[in-house]
Amino acid sequence: MLAERAASSDAGEAGARLIDGKALAMGVRAGVARDAALLAARGVTPGLTVVLVGDDPASAVYVGAKERACREAGMNGETIRLSADTSEAELLAVIDRLNADPSIHGILVQMPLPSQIDADRVIRRIRPDKDVDGFHPVNVGKLLIGEKDGFVPCTPAGIMVMLEAHDVQLRGAEVVVVGRSNIVGKPMAALLMQHGVDATVTICHSRTRDLAEHTRRADVLIAAVGRARLITADMVRSGAVVIDVGMNRIPDASRSSGTRLVGDVDFDAVRQVASLITPVPGGVGPMTIAMLLRSTVRAAGRTVTPEGAGEGGAR
Ligand code: GUN
Repeated sequence: MLAERAASSDAGEAGARLIDGKALAMGVRAGVARDAALLAARGVTPGLTVVLVGDDPASAVYVGAKERACREAGMNGETIRLSADTSEAELLAVIDRLNADPSIHGILVQMPLPSQIDADRVIRRIRPDKDVDGFHPVNVGKLLIGEKDGFVPCTPAGIMVMLEAHDVQLRGAEVVVVGRSNIVGKPMAALLMQHGVDATVTICHSRTRDLAEHTRRADVLIAAVGRARLITADMVRSGAVVIDVGMNRIPDASRSSGTRLVGDVDFDAVRQVASLITPVPGGVGPMTIAMLLRSTVRAAGRTVTPEGAGEGGAR
C-alpha cells in the first residue's frame, strides 16, 4: 500500500512533492499566537525559558530561533546562557528556580550538555508540567501508554502534524524509523503505534543488520540518525513518503561560510523516487519550534483551566 495514494503518481519526472515545513509551521504559529493573546487577556502571558550551557554554535542558533519565535507569538521568551564549565549543581539550582517561578510555564534545557553534567539528572529535575520538551520520564511514560495529558517531544509531534496535513495514510502502513534517540526515534515510534494512528512501526539503528532491506519496505520512511545522506535512492520504495530529520553540516567550498546543511537523506536522488519529501533546511526544523511554542501555550493554559487554552491547547 502506498502511503500517500493521491500523490504517488506525481513522483514521475518532476519528482516528489515537497512538504513545506516553513509554511505549515507558520500556520501552527498563527494558532499559537491567537491562543497566547487569549491567555494574555486573562492575565497569563505564556513564558518559555531556554537554558543553554556552553557555546556550541549549532545550539546557539537553535536557541536564538526559539527565543525569537516566542516573541513573535506574543509570548515571553528568555534564554539563560551558562558557561561551558557550569557544574551540574549550578544547573540544577537554576532549574529549581525556574520550577518555582509561576511566570515561567515551559523550561527547555538545550541538549547536548557538557560532559560534566548528567543530562538524565537534569531532565528529571524539571517539573513534568513545565517539561515542554516531553523528555521527563513522566511524560515519556504518558506518551507510551497513550495518556493524552503529557507533553510530546516537539520533533515527532511536528512530524505527525506534517503527515496529517498531507493526508498521509498511516493506518496499517509500514513506517520505518531510522534512529532510536529519546528525542526523535523512540517517541516517533510511540506516536505512530498508538491506537487510532495504527501504523506498523519498525525502528532501525546502528546495529541493524541490513538497513536497506527494512527501508525499502517503508510506505513512510523517517530518517533521524544524524548521518549526512545515509539514505540513498536505492533504499527507498517508489512512491514512499520521506521525512528527513537530519541536520548535518558538511564542507562546501562554494559557500562563503565554507559549509552547508544537509539531511540524512540524499535529497536530489531520493526525490526522484519518493512521492512526498521534506527538504533540509525548511522541513522538519521549523515545525519543531512551532510545536515547542504550542506546548508552552498549553502549559500556560493549564494554569488557568485544566484542559489548557483553545486550539493550541490540543496535542
Ligand atoms: N537538541 C536537539 N534537539 C533538541 C530538542 O528538541 N530539545 C532539546 N532540549 N535539545 C535539543
